[in-house]
Amino acid sequence: MDNSLNILVLSCGTRNKIIQYFKRELGEKGAVIATDCSPLAPALYEADKHYVVRRMNEKGYLDEILSICKENNIKGVLSLIDPELSFLAKHKQDFLDIGTFPIVSDHDAIELFFDKYRTFEFLNQNNLPTVKSYLNKTDFYKDLENRKINYPVFVKPVNGSASININKVTSNEELEILFNRFDNLIIQEFMDGNEYGIDVYIDFISLEPTSIFIKKKLKMRGGETDKSISVKEEKLFDLIKKFVAITNFKGIIDIDVFEVRGEYYISEVNPRFGGGYPHAYENGINVPKMIFNNLNSLVNKSEIGDYQEGKLMMKYSEIKTI
Ligand SMILES: Nc1ncnc2c1ncn2[C@@H]1O[C@H](COP(=O)(O)OP(=O)(O)O)[C@@H](O)[C@H]1O
Ligand SMILES: [Mg+2]
Repeated sequence: MDNSLNILVLSCGTRNKIIQYFKRELGEKGAVIATDCSPLAPALYEADKHYVVRRMNEKGYLDEILSICKENNIKGVLSLIDPELSFLAKHKQDFLDIGTFPIVSDHDAIELFFDKYRTFEFLNQNNLPTVKSYLNKTDFYKDLENRKINYPVFVKPVNGSASININKVTSNEELEILFNRFDNLIIQEFMDGNEYGIDVYIDFISLEPTSIFIKKKLKMRGGETDKSISVKEEKLFDLIKKFVAITNFKGIIDIDVFEVRGEYYISEVNPRFGGGYPHAYENGINVPKMIFNNLNSLVNKSEIGDYQEGKLMMKYSEIKTI
């Protein structure tokens, strides 16, 4: 029996830090293997071993990944991109059958929160504060007339990510232009305030949140948190605990929250390592360790709020040559 704890990271892209953290945690206990559909993904070359694979939506992708898992005796597999989370969850059993644990939330939770309108409906129904949203222009115009909402509003793709195609809109004319050009848009009230990114770990065995790390975003760049500061806020910890209790998330998730006039509103959830996770790790939030504990059938103890407040994170570029 091979007892090594080999890990596979799918669609690693530019997330070199994540690969480094897993390698650091594993030490001699196993290997970190990475895949990407491009040979120009720098994180590939950070891993102990890597594969350039076909695109996720191409035929044969599942078999290709399953055979990499078999060949390398992979204990756990995770992905760093949104569209692949559903894929992993959907094929969970195929991975379990070959002894590989998909480190991912349940399919229903992933699908629900991939859709920003269903996210709004779900949070609303469960009395959790969220951002007022419309899918339908006519409904929006009706509320505009009744002054239930005012310009500016925020318009973005209902299934968007990486801040692609996001717009602040101040008139009907602008709104019409966007709706003529693009399908599947969502209209939201414009949230004018502070933004927070919250990294949460939910134990795969106890299903309890074991870590909640809150950072206030100071600057965004290319859809990722570029500069941020760690904060502790009881009201936010409580909101996140309530949220976790009513959802089916597992493992690492990243929650976006707005603060407007002292109130917190949940905006969106990405059930994967967020782009700002390195801030949490560098402040002692060791998610690779929590994952390895779970893979070894160990329950993690709660470490909620176990970090220093006021720590700044500033990203900077590095270069990989091969
Ligand atoms: N309703 C809103 N009001 C103001 N700004 C918003 C609103 N929705 C999104 N944004 C801004 O756009 C960014 C991207 O939107 P988000 O919904 O998080 O989509 P993505 O999936 O692209 O991260 C957010 O981080 C925030 O800065
Ligand atoms: Mg976001």
